Amino acid sequence: MMNATQALIEAAREAATRAYAPYSNFYVGAAIRLTDGRIVTGANVENASYGLSLCAETVAIAKIANEELLAEVVEVAVIGGTGAEPVRPCGRCRQVLNEAAQLGKCDLTIHCASGDGKRHETHKLSDLLPYAFGPADLI
Ligand code: THU
Repeated sequence: MMNATQALIEAAREAATRAYAPYSNFYVGAAIRLTDGRIVTGANVENASYGLSLCAETVAIAKIANEELLAEVVEVAVIGGTGAEPVRPCGRCRQVLNEAAQLGKCDLTIHCASGDGKRHETHKLSDLLPYAFGPADLI
């Protein structure tokens, strides 16, 4: 029987199969759980102009933002590549996730999984992005 964390990581792994990553061949999937239990996924979308590439977490957050559900984000799983090292959100994605965290007044739980499926580690966003700048600072 799969627990909730394993299910979220599994959703991220499935999402990664839909990445468009012909330049890096590094397939990343993100799965984001909302307060009502729904899971929204994303995968990285690269571009021939490399610097324009979108990360999996950012794609998932964009989908959520367009449904006006940013404040409902509670938990995130990220998985990538095929190696043994857990994939951790890049700096820009930490900032993108922080927007949802501050709107929902929720310190997000972030599961970082290795592509080989053998390891994952769990962090709070406040540990990955301390002293964050967010919507509350613009008041
Ligand atoms: N990537 C993500 O999708 N999320 C991250 O947090 C780290 C990096 C993607 C961007 C690029 O398409 C590929 O991984 C290699 O950097």
